[in-house]
Amino acid sequence: MSVEERAASERVLAERERYVPRGVSTPTLVVDRADGAHIWDVDGRQFLDFAGGIACQNLGHGPETVVRAVQEQAERYLHQCFMVGMYEPYVDVCRRLAELWPGDAKDVKTLLVNSGAEAIENAVKIARAATGRPGVVVFDRAFHGRTNLTMAMTSKLVYKDKMGPLAPDVHRAPAPYPYRGVSTEDALHGLELLFKQDVSPDSVACIVLEPVQGEGGFIPMPPDFVHALREICDQHGIVYVDDEVQAGCGRTGSVWAIERIGVEPDLLVSGKTLGGGLPLAAVSGRAELMDAVHPGGLGGTFGGNPLACAAAVAVLDALSAPGFSERAEQIERLIRDRLDEIAARNPLVGEVRGLGAMIALELREKTPDAAKATTAAAFDKGLLLLSCGLYGNVIRLLPPLTATNDELERGLDLLEEALGDASAG
Ligand SMILES: Cc1ncc(COP(=O)(O)O)c(C=O)c1O
Repeated sequence: MSVEERAASERVLAERERYVPRGVSTPTLVVDRADGAHIWDVDGRQFLDFAGGIACQNLGHGPETVVRAVQEQAERYLHQCFMVGMYEPYVDVCRRLAELWPGDAKDVKTLLVNSGAEAIENAVKIARAATGRPGVVVFDRAFHGRTNLTMAMTSKLVYKDKMGPLAPDVHRAPAPYPYRGVSTEDALHGLELLFKQDVSPDSVACIVLEPVQGEGGFIPMPPDFVHALREICDQHGIVYVDDEVQAGCGRTGSVWAIERIGVEPDLLVSGKTLGGGLPLAAVSGRAELMDAVHPGGLGGTFGGNPLACAAAVAVLDALSAPGFSERAEQIERLIRDRLDEIAARNPLVGEVRGLGAMIALELREKTPDAAKATTAAAFDKGLLLLSCGLYGNVIRLLPPLTATNDELERGLDLLEEALGDASAG
């Protein structure tokens, strides 16, 4: 497309350059509208969306029930602040999250906030209040957010360089990464060393782990590692925090990824798709933990905004509807089979991995070049893709779980073509 044909995008991009700081990295896509698995830009170009606003659109763009729920709520009121005027949609979301709790706990309570990072911060506050301990253990390649505490918990330098001092008492341990030679045994040995060298387990309030590492490279945590962490937490009275902000809300087939591993966490943090496109995140957990914080110690002006709650009720209904997880499993098979074929044909690809429909290709070289070339070529062909990983060399797929087989196959064809262009370049 020529510059003249891209006139509308060029105008917004120029204004973005002038008025928005460069720290918010942006692509060249300027969105006009979106529907299902598709986005149209302001110049009329159509894209197949395998990025979903970074994992926020597991139900696709504009799901009818979600849009209707938001419209109906908008007619009634937009905001109250739950600490000033309570409203039922907030309580409805908490009740549904209790019903969907992945484990035996009967009394589950939920705090609603605005973002994944804010939810993680609150999970740490709750764990500290419940245990009376300061320490937080996180893992290599973890991503938990960009606020001051979560920046310390997140592992990639780009998210924190020059922005310290970082929050104290955050300790990092290795996490398994079988493709690059880190086994469950190695990772557990690393944690053992951490507990000998840097922090006593008796000073640790919580361990925070993504069941499938997201920004870190779509690395599913091996079940034996997650089970071992659960045991370590039980042994030392440490709170197990399951960060499902990216892996949750149906992405891996079950509502929560940890259900597929068979471990019950103490606190579960959800976000992204939870709000169906509106800002909402949650911390759920057993009542005795959630109630460890005194009245007034949790909350915020907009946390659990009524529109976002109305959307979330519709989202949670859709995720728990009959047939949802079966469709996610079909999508998983379709994508995985096709990616295996692509990997067998293209020497750039080192590994195909994932859990459920949270699947990625890791490229062999530990540099971002080929992944960048692939996502750029895919963009030119009309496919939105994201890369991830500590080295930026992983191409992750986040198509809506409502996409048709034709849409998925078309996207995978475009991905293969784009990878072919990247290998040729
Ligand atoms: C696993 C995980 N936790 C936390 C966050 C932070 O969420 P937010 O960007 O909504 O603050 C993210 C965001 O990508 C994430 O992937």
